[in-house]
Amino acid sequence: MPCCVQKFIVKTMAHHHLWILLFCLQTCLEAAGSDTDIFIVNGILGESATFPLNIQPSQKVTIISWHSKTSVAFVKPGNFGEEPIVTITHQNYHERISVSGQNYNLELRNLRIEDSGIYKADINVETSKVTTTRSYNLQVYRRLEKPKITQSFVTSVNSTCNVTLMCSVDKEEKNVTYSWSPRGEEGNVLQIFQTPDNQEETYTCTAWNPVSNNSDSISAQQLCADITMTPHTRHTGLMSGLAVLSVLIVILPSVVLFLLCKKGEGRRFSHKVPS
Ligand SMILES: *[C@@H]1O[C@H](CO)[C@@H](O)[C@H](O)[C@H]1NC(C)=O
Ligand SMILES: *[C@@H]1O[C@H](CO)[C@@H](O)[C@H](O)[C@H]1NC(C)=O
Ligand SMILES: *[C@@H]1O[C@H](CO)[C@@H](O)[C@H](O)[C@H]1NC(C)=O
Ligand SMILES: *[C@@H]1O[C@H](CO)[C@@H](O)[C@H](O)[C@H]1NC(C)=O
Repeated sequence: MPCCVQKFIVKTMAHHHLWILLFCLQTCLEAAGSDTDIFIVNGILGESATFPLNIQPSQKVTIISWHSKTSVAFVKPGNFGEEPIVTITHQNYHERISVSGQNYNLELRNLRIEDSGIYKADINVETSKVTTTRSYNLQVYRRLEKPKITQSFVTSVNSTCNVTLMCSVDKEEKNVTYSWSPRGEEGNVLQIFQTPDNQEETYTCTAWNPVSNNSDSISAQQLCADITMTPHTRHTGLMSGLAVLSVLIVILPSVVLFLLCKKGEGRRFSHKVPS
């Protein structure tokens, strides 16, 4: 619109031609019809989305035809100011569509992932022979579940552990982005150098998609628990090894001795019999 106004000013100042104004007005009107603009509509799985037509009451609609990959529906004005008459033209949309009597906005309920795609409304009004088309890009997303933070220990030097945190959502989701607080870093990987001084820190990963966000946190103490435990673990390992060894040392000889004694007794007994 501003470009048209500019063109108008420049040209009228140069030529004072009224027809330029008329030409410009027409272009502006066509631009306002926005046949090429695609309006983004984000929806949540299982919930509903509205395609805004925002038709004014003064515009007397004769018929609106909705189509996507398939045909969708026809909408006609109701008789005597009643609700618009909606004729669903594809079974996929059965019992899922309603149209506002005020502005002809179309609501699609119980959204499915496969509803995603381009939707077009061909609008005919009484006052014009020209069909206006409005285009929408509907994208249906799941509400994100809590992401998972996994850690891989890389190194530990001088009680500083070098940890890599990975954040991920369970299912294969489209358009998911991640951010970390308090660092404010973007992306699903976070590199941390954990020193004994910043044990109180908590790292939160937030997963985002165009309709939702969800977070999970991990405390610094949790993070490097394994590192501080390492000598301990080794110690316990050694202890249990010793325990097993001592069991072997004490029990095995006893068992062998016991067997030997039994055998000796038997021999003594068998020795006695013939004599
Ligand atoms: C570890 O600490 C020692 C002495 O405190 C220092 O000499 C060494 O450079 C440190 N190593 C690293 C990797 O920071
Ligand atoms: C920490 O780990 C990352 C990832 O393996 C590595 O690139 C980096 O050099 C490590 N930094 C230090 C100081 O060990
Ligand atoms: C979603 O991701 C696709 C590619 O994976 C991209 O083309 C599209 O622009 C993204 N949409 C949004 C809303 O980020
Ligand atoms: C993040 O999600 C919460 C609800 O889980 C919501 O209240 C909040 O508005 C969302 N933030 C943004 C920026 O979308």
